[in-house]
Amino acid sequence: MQFTVPLLVSYLIAQTHGSPLISPRAGRPAYFLLTGDSTTAPKGGWGDGFLSTTIAAGSSAHNYGHSGATTASFRAGGDWNKVTKDISTYKDKYNVYVTIQFGHNDQKETSGVSLAQYTTNLENFASEAAAAGAIPILLTPLTRRVFSNGKVVESLSTQRNLTITAAESKNYRWIDLNMASQNYVNAIGRTAASKYNLASDDWTHLNEYGGVVFARLVSDLLVSKYPEIAKVTKANTTLSAALAAGKPA
Ligand SMILES: *[C@@H]1O[C@H](CO)[C@@H](O)[C@H](O)[C@H]1NC(C)=O
Ligand SMILES: *[C@@H]1O[C@H](CO)[C@@H](O)[C@H](O)[C@H]1NC(C)=O
Repeated sequence: MQFTVPLLVSYLIAQTHGSPLISPRAGRPAYFLLTGDSTTAPKGGWGDGFLSTTIAAGSSAHNYGHSGATTASFRAGGDWNKVTKDISTYKDKYNVYVTIQFGHNDQKETSGVSLAQYTTNLENFASEAAAAGAIPILLTPLTRRVFSNGKVVESLSTQRNLTITAAESKNYRWIDLNMASQNYVNAIGRTAASKYNLASDDWTHLNEYGGVVFARLVSDLLVSKYPEIAKVTKANTTLSAALAAGKPA
């Protein structure tokens, strides 16, 4: 048997960086490991709503969202290490999905993370998750709900686009949470959107119900793009219908 050079090279790359196209095994439950900043974390993000309302019996999840995290601090502070440990613990019994959603803190002048580093850090999370035996899914960052002239201010468009660039670099899975959440918030308007605020003047973080609503949006995006995830998901047709119709939930 003879390898052509390009074939051999791509084989070696796949060995070094992990195959980007690990397929879920049919019939297995899922273990979702959620990584991100405060917009995923408990008390302000969608992660806990995802755990409590979207996971089917037999499947499981852990919310590793960390308030204030950037793609750099999430690794430097030890969070990413916990995620890769969990992958090795769960990968033999579950399809392990790692959701990766950053940008809100990386984009701050003070973060010390350049746009190029942000993109590379996302690629590295995805490739390391895949190499460890999980299925990474990059999420473009949840929109802020700040309005100007009746429209949501697109403050994360650069990070959205770079997240997609990172995902497409090696054909990793991704969903466009930024665009979907922005479209939804635009559709329901500022007054309805304010009901999800963690505090009345906090248009970034979510209260408990807001967490449930945007967790459902994440879940619906996952299921519609990756249909096998429906089997490990508890549906809520009422909430999904409101989201799809752009009606306040
Ligand atoms: C992001 O990409 C979209 C096209 O998908 C483009 O319209 C938009 O201008 C881009 N945003 C930035 C900040 O480059
Ligand atoms: C769907 O979500 C709504 C809003 O959280 C909730 O009131 C309702 O009980 C849920 N329905 C099901 C079947 O879980």
